[in-house]
Amino acid sequence: MNVDKATIEQAPKKASELRSSQVYKENLDFWHQAWNMCTKPYTKMPELDYLPWIPEHLHANSVKTVLDLGCGSGWLSVFLSREGFQVTGIDVADHALDLGKQWADMENLKIQFDVGDLGDLPYADNSFDAVVANSIIEHLPLSLAVVAMAKLKSIICSGGTFIGCFDKVGTGPGEYFKLEDGTQVYTDKSRKGMMLRYFPDDELKELLAGWKIDEFKTLDSGSRFVVAHT
Ligand SMILES: C[S@@+](CC[C@H](N)C(=O)[O-])C[C@H]1O[C@@H](n2cnc3c(N)ncnc32)[C@H](O)[C@@H]1O
Repeated sequence: MNVDKATIEQAPKKASELRSSQVYKENLDFWHQAWNMCTKPYTKMPELDYLPWIPEHLHANSVKTVLDLGCGSGWLSVFLSREGFQVTGIDVADHALDLGKQWADMENLKIQFDVGDLGDLPYADNSFDAVVANSIIEHLPLSLAVVAMAKLKSIICSGGTFIGCFDKVGTGPGEYFKLEDGTQVYTDKSRKGMMLRYFPDDELKELLAGWKIDEFKTLDSGSRFVVAHT
């Protein structure tokens, strides 16, 4: 499916209907339950080739304030805070944020962790210089992704930076049914309720229409590393 004019126009209504649906509730329940199983912060940084590129781009764009979307227990927030950025992480799972706070406290880092849904980001216009989105947009159905990307454009200041890593998802084993936009809703025991949607390159570019894309790189893993600015 392409992110055409009609898709964009209908996205707010569709996203709002979706957010009040049972299938979305079960998706959020999945994340709460998954995080509730973690009893203490996992304080190891992932080994990702593109990780050093993120602060490089942020520094190059003179970024000071960063929003980490779907931050989970906050490894990227911690990583960027260590680099000197003023970081806010947002996630729907409050327990994940508690783990992030514990980790930040261990390192005396000042990170703001907010509970919130990407479909309804609670920030005013021009709140951040940059937004990072690692492995999160692909957990949103198309309408929510469209709504979230539109909102990001206003909460990032003029000329602000977006850095996203979009995984190649949904090609592995698993049991799921599909929503009309292709979102896979998992039914197998370990991931019951979780939503996953593959965004092909052309859709990602359409999602970023109105942004200036500085870099669009496909990694060996198939993930796409994208840098854009308003
Ligand atoms: C695959 S994890 C990625 C976490 C982190 N960004 C990382 O790179 O490890 C997806 C995260 O998004 C959160 N999440 C899923 N749907 C969300 C939504 N609609 N709004 C906010 N957070 C959401 C989950 O709780 C989870 O922490």
